[in-house]
Amino acid sequence: MKDYEPIQSFGEDSAETYDDSSRGDEDATVLFLEHLARGGPALELAIGTGRIALPLAARGVPVDGIDFSPAMVAKLRAKPGGDQIPVTMGDFADVPVSGAYRLIFVVFNTLFNLLTQDDQVRCFENVAAHLTDDGVFVVEAFVPTYLTRLRDDQYVDAERIDVGEVRLDVGRHDPVAQRLDESHVVLSSAGVRLYPIVARYAWPSELDLMARIAGLRLKNRWSGWEHEPFTAASRRHVSVYGR
Ligand SMILES: C[S@@+](CC[C@H](N)C(=O)[O-])C[C@H]1O[C@@H](n2cnc3c(N)ncnc32)[C@H](O)[C@@H]1O
Repeated sequence: MKDYEPIQSFGEDSAETYDDSSRGDEDATVLFLEHLARGGPALELAIGTGRIALPLAARGVPVDGIDFSPAMVAKLRAKPGGDQIPVTMGDFADVPVSGAYRLIFVVFNTLFNLLTQDDQVRCFENVAAHLTDDGVFVVEAFVPTYLTRLRDDQYVDAERIDVGEVRLDVGRHDPVAQRLDESHVVLSSAGVRLYPIVARYAWPSELDLMARIAGLRLKNRWSGWEHEPFTAASRRHVSVYGR
């Protein structure tokens, strides 16, 4: 997507509506992470509005965060307990923090917001440098199977059709760059609003190689936060890496 900068996807508009609909898997995510944190400390890459970090911290796990969006972090700060969580403003590929963590995690496909393989590898390397010897890195991401089934590598989905507003999800897939250019298009009498986002996806096996480059190994892979088995039919994975 020409002229796209990732920060454009996380401005005031997106931050304003980000928490309007929950994914519904927050409780299971927090239980899964709390178990692996073993008392912490924990670090969330791309902490956003604190959807996961806040309930994890409320269960007694010290959580730090990294994010580059002032608008998303302002939403976190406005929530109860949100001013207690140390957040470093910066690019999570750099892991720009000091210290070592027993748990570092990046959820909700956000690793794919790093738009090159180099940046994703750099992220794994920097994560490895900030893990305790027994620390683990948890990645939750989609399995890109459905992209290979697109017709002509593109799609238009009618996400919502109301009398006064239509919301479309449009996408174009580049299978060589492993990139999905996507935009949510909202049409209403107020005009047209665009919410672009680009993802550079990776198959689980590529992530495992990135981990190896960084000196980590896959310890476990599930298809969800309740330890559901990962199979050929799985649409997402929760992967746990350690030394
Ligand atoms: C989909 S939200 C996820 C937020 C939170 N982890 C959650 O699960 O609700 C993605 C977040 O990643 C942040 N982000 C995306 N790319 C980033 C980067 N390269 N460095 C730091 N933050 C980034 C955005 O600002 C946004 O807050």
